[in-house]
Amino acid sequence: MRSKIVAGNWKMNTTVNEGEALIQGILAKMEEVPASVQLVVAPPFTHLVPVQALLKDSAVALSAQNCADQGKGAYTGEVAAPMLSALGCQYVILGHSERREYYGETSETLVRKIDLALAEGLKPIYCVGEKLEEREANRHFDVVEAQIREVLFHLTAEQFAQVVIAYEPVWAIGTGKTATAEQAQEIHAFIRRTIADHFGAEAAEAVSILYGGSCKPSNAKELFACPDIDGGLIGGAALKAEDFIGIAVSF
Ligand code: 13P
Repeated sequence: MRSKIVAGNWKMNTTVNEGEALIQGILAKMEEVPASVQLVVAPPFTHLVPVQALLKDSAVALSAQNCADQGKGAYTGEVAAPMLSALGCQYVILGHSERREYYGETSETLVRKIDLALAEGLKPIYCVGEKLEEREANRHFDVVEAQIREVLFHLTAEQFAQVVIAYEPVWAIGTGKTATAEQAQEIHAFIRRTIADHFGAEAAEAVSILYGGSCKPSNAKELFACPDIDGGLIGGAALKAEDFIGIAVSF
């Protein structure tokens, strides 16, 4: 059975104090969340130490939102994978469309990031997804296949077993426009077939594929009921404990 995961990507939101309050709100509601659902929070870098202290002894895992494409050295402003693993991070989000779009991340950069994260024992939450014009041109399958092939296909089966994939159509992120359950299931199934073709049926059956893009308590149930949707990568709704937990109880 593959893991069910609900991960909150806080993006560039909250001060440390607000972040701590959000964690306390989530922890206070943890008993509502089934033990089979892994919760993950990805606060900004500046919050990782105090958030980790609050999460100690809880079932909530810590994630970073990014890591550098170099291991250490003269890279002003960057944060390296070994720094994150040393803090107790278990996951790192890589390849988010905002990083690809605003910070010029390419498949080449992402290969280095994935390799460095895996070498540190971090589980990458690797994001893929097409832009609106790509979907309208019916190119979404090609775009997503290339994002997977270029960045993940060099991994060994053992390395790939540590990877979580998040499908986030760019047109659904922060727009209030969710992919329909049918649209999401169709491409999640395609992603799983793409994985099966390269890594084999067992790896494809085991990989968790999360949906992201305006996921909220009111639509999570329908999305999570789809056979190839194993959870969500949540932006806006992860900033309110009630909504984040409301999504986590939607399986
Ligand atoms: P929203 O849930 O705000 O649409 O963001 C999704 C996302 O980008 C999570 O990484």
